[in-house]
Amino acid sequence: MAVLPSLLIAFFLLVTGSALDATYLEGFLGNGNFEEQPKPSDLRKTVLKGKYALPKWELSGRVEYISGGPQPGGMYFAVAHGIHAVRLGNEASISQTMTVKPGSLYALTFGASRTCAQDEVLRVSVPPQSGDLPLQTLYDSFGGDVYAYGFRAKSNSVKVTFHNPGVQEDPACGPLLDAVAIKELFPPRPTRDNLVKNPGFEEGPHRLVNSSNGVLLPPRQEDSTSPLPGWIIESLKAVKFIDAKHFSIPYGLSAVELVAGRESAIAQILRTIPNKVYNLTFVVGDAKNGCHGSMMVEAFAAKDTLKVPFKSQGRGQFTTASFKFKAISARTRITFFSSFYHTRNNDFGSLCGPILDQVRVVSVA
Ligand SMILES: *[C@@H]1O[C@H](CO)[C@@H](O)[C@H](O)[C@H]1NC(C)=O
Ligand SMILES: *[C@@H]1O[C@H](CO)[C@@H](O)[C@H](O)[C@H]1NC(C)=O
Repeated sequence: MAVLPSLLIAFFLLVTGSALDATYLEGFLGNGNFEEQPKPSDLRKTVLKGKYALPKWELSGRVEYISGGPQPGGMYFAVAHGIHAVRLGNEASISQTMTVKPGSLYALTFGASRTCAQDEVLRVSVPPQSGDLPLQTLYDSFGGDVYAYGFRAKSNSVKVTFHNPGVQEDPACGPLLDAVAIKELFPPRPTRDNLVKNPGFEEGPHRLVNSSNGVLLPPRQEDSTSPLPGWIIESLKAVKFIDAKHFSIPYGLSAVELVAGRESAIAQILRTIPNKVYNLTFVVGDAKNGCHGSMMVEAFAAKDTLKVPFKSQGRGQFTTASFKFKAISARTRITFFSSFYHTRNNDFGSLCGPILDQVRVVSVA
């Protein structure tokens, strides 16, 4: 089992937004948890006045500086990471420019939740790349959700922007952004005894301190820029990246939890030799997170499939499954999803599901 390179290179750099000779980048962006407060003269009630009202960030449109908890008017904003957050009103955005390594892969990790309308969307852009994150599904009904977004740096300086593309009747309506961090990722390679890259999901996005609910990997992530290197997140809903500190993980320090039934699938494209037979093995289990019941993980490779039933008692148990498939071309897609939806025993508002770990493909002699 490969040890996480990011643990070996365990320096934790605080990005300041200034030019930085970063050998390895991981941590909050400058004022990434929004705890460095604006000057009182830069605030009108909660609304930030002007482009540079929030330290280290550049603002556009109606951006509010929020303290978590009950709000005037009866709303409640959950702020899990520190005390403060920003709220992006109609067409508002916040940006920060930072130094990166051209060609390297990075993942942003951020806490985000909708505040009033169902159809709120958060647009993350790191030109020329941009992605829209629909926030209507609340995966964790308590603390607010944490997402990751991957990008490949095109030059040594990138401008990261979070934008609310929506227009609601109430101009204050829009996503709440709680904390923003970044991590450089090391794209893993297949090895001699496994064609699968990042097979145990050990290389993945930064986890925010106190982010006890895992990191959501949003749908429609291509493998070239995925925040989970090597893996494609398909379908309509997110897959959750979970860690051994807060969940029971079969092997290593992390795994993925298939939280949205058939609506969330994870896939990888392997280089294969046509007509050769391969053995795909993988581990299915539960994360010991109050997710009980009859589960089923479906796996696909070329024309072959396997359904793996797993009865979760919420005790962090797991089982290994395997099947043989015959490659029909030089590229074979392997895909996994959960057949059913599950919610947590103690919180019916939180989606959960079976976990997947240790995916291995070897050719059969
Ligand atoms: C994490 O949680 C602990 C305990 O609740 C708290 O003391 C600490 O300030 C939190 N850290 C951050 C960065 O939010
Ligand atoms: C695949 O390989 C595993 C591990 O070597 C083995 O236990 C399993 O029986 C094999 N599966 C098939 C279908 O041959």
